[in-house]
Amino acid sequence: MTNGSGIRIAPSVLSADLSRLAEQVQQVLAGGADWVHVDVMDGRFVPNLTFGANMIAALRGLTDKPIDVHLMVVEPERYLESFAAAGASVFTFHPEATVHVQRLLAAVRRQGMLAGLALNPGSPLQLADEVVADLDLLLIMTVNPGFGGQTYLPASNDKIRRARELLAAHGSRAFLEVDGGITSHTIATAHAAGADTFVAGNAIFTSGDPAREVRDLRRRCLVTV
Ligand code: DX5
Ligand code: ZN
Repeated sequence: MTNGSGIRIAPSVLSADLSRLAEQVQQVLAGGADWVHVDVMDGRFVPNLTFGANMIAALRGLTDKPIDVHLMVVEPERYLESFAAAGASVFTFHPEATVHVQRLLAAVRRQGMLAGLALNPGSPLQLADEVVADLDLLLIMTVNPGFGGQTYLPASNDKIRRARELLAAHGSRAFLEVDGGITSHTIATAHAAGADTFVAGNAIFTSGDPAREVRDLRRRCLVTV
C-alpha cells in the first residue's frame, strides 16, 4: 500500500464539494493521491455528523486505491462488517470509544482491513502501548477532531517524534499517520518528526487545483526543516 516514496498523501473528502464528488476524487488521484480518507462522525464522539457505509461504497466505485476510514464514533465495532463489505481498506478508531481495544483491532484484521488506532491531542501515547503489535497504523490527531480547516497544534511535533520511537522500540512497521491542519506549511515538520502518512482536507479541496496541491504536499515533505 505504498507508492514507493514512503510517503502517503490521503485527501479527506470531508472538505470536498460533495455535489462534484467523482470529479474531485479524480482530481486528487490525478495528482497522485495514495489513499482516500473518509471521516465518519456520529454527533456523539465528536459534535459533527458525516458519512457512513454508503460513502465508502461510492468511493470504492470510483477508485481501487485504499480507502482510509477514520471513525470518530462511539462503539466503532458496530460498523466493522458493513464498512468492510462496503470496501474500506483501513479501519481506524479511537481507544476511548470502545471497551475492548485489542479485541476490535484483531477483529479488524480478520475482516481483511488494516487496523488503526487514533489518538486525540489530549490522549496519551500510552493508550497504544499494550497493542503496538496489533496495529497496522497509528494516527496522531494534530487537531481536536470534528471539523476540517482547523489549525495544526504545534505540540504535535513532539508527540509524533515519540510515536515514531514507540513504533521503532517495538519493531513495528505500522504507518504513522497525522490528521488535522496539514498544509504546505506544516507537512514538512510533521514529516521530519516521523510521520509517513498525511491526511489533508481543506488544504487540498479549497486550493482551486486539488491535483497540484497533492503534488505540492508530497514535494514539501522532502524539504529539510
Ligand atoms: C478532523 C478530521 C480530518 C479532517 C482534516 O476531525 O479527522 O480528517 O478532514 O481536515 P483538515 O485537513 O482541513 O484539517
Ligand atoms: Zn480524519
